[in-house]
Formats: sequence, C-alpha cells, structure tokens
Amino acid sequence: MSKTVICPGSFDPVTLGHVDIITRASKMFDKVIVAVLVNSSKTPSFSIEERIELLQDSTCGIENVEVVSFNGLLAEYCRERKVDAIVKGLRAVTDFEYEFQMALTNKKLNPMLETIFLTADADSMYLSSSMVREVASMGGDISNFVPKCVHQRIVERLNKG
Ligand code: PNS
Repeated sequence: MSKTVICPGSFDPVTLGHVDIITRASKMFDKVIVAVLVNSSKTPSFSIEERIELLQDSTCGIENVEVVSFNGLLAEYCRERKVDAIVKGLRAVTDFEYEFQMALTNKKLNPMLETIFLTADADSMYLSSSMVREVASMGGDISNFVPKCVHQRIVERLNKG
C-alpha cells in the first residue's frame, strides 16, 4: 500500500538539515509532503511564499516531494490528505521534549496519525534556521548550512534585513 508522509516545519529558511531529512524520507516512503506552517510562537523572517520557493528549489531533484502551505491544524490536514505519518528530524536531546509534546498532541487530535523521528545527520546535528539567520545577518558565511542553489538568495534577503 502506498505510504504518504509529511515533513512539517517553519523552514525559516530551509537548511541542509531539512533537506537531509526530506531526502531520506523520500527514499523510505512513496510520497513526501513538505508543509510550510505557522508556528504561533515564532515571528518569521521569510514570507510563506519565499519559504515555499526556497524549499521547491532545494528539493527540485526529488520526484516524490510536494511543497505545500496551509493555515490550520496539521492533524486536520493530515486527515484530509490521508497522510500516514509525520516525519521529523531530531537533532539532540534538547529537541526531544518539544517534539514529543507535538507528537502526542497530534496523535490525540488524529489518533490515526503516527510521528516518526529520524536522527539528524552528524553534519547537521548543530544546524538550525535561527542560527543561519543570525550568522547571515552578521555577514558570516552560511555556505555550509544551506543548499547551494538557494544560498545567494538567502544571503541577499537577510542582508536586506
Ligand atoms: O519548525 P518548527 O517551527 O519547529 O515547526 C513547528 C510546526 C510548524 C510544525 C508546528 O508549530 C505546527 O504543526 N503548526 C501548525 C498548527 C498546529 O497544528 N499546531 C499544533 C501542533 S501540536
């Protein structure tokens, strides 16, 4: 039976860590929906449209990936799209409590929905969008942190403020 999973996140902006998780999920499942969502506790630097475009360009070589965005609950969207599981990357113990809370909340809202955690690649263990934003906004080199094809756009955008 065909399996569809979703990789949700703020992706503000996409990092090599995100692309690693999406790529690995695309090899394990038939379809991967990458969802750019609102995290009500964060104020994003990039617009939803910008984040979608950066993700589309960063994953354009992966056939079974679709990038979407929607307002509302992830658990509800997964029900509508018949998503089998949420796939998230876990970087360190510090991620665990937050991710565990979201996984259990989503399971309560949609009992059919599983959450699968992939351990971050050793090279991406320390990476985060907030770190990318901070380094780039202070003129630092982010070429090791974001996909090559979107690097220049992210640098220019964060330099503009
Ligand atoms: O990359 P992030 O910011 O850690 O991702 C968090 C995100 C966007 C996946 C989460 O905030 C989310 O699912 N937002 C959509 C609204 C929702 O369903 N909230 C309840 C989550 S338990």
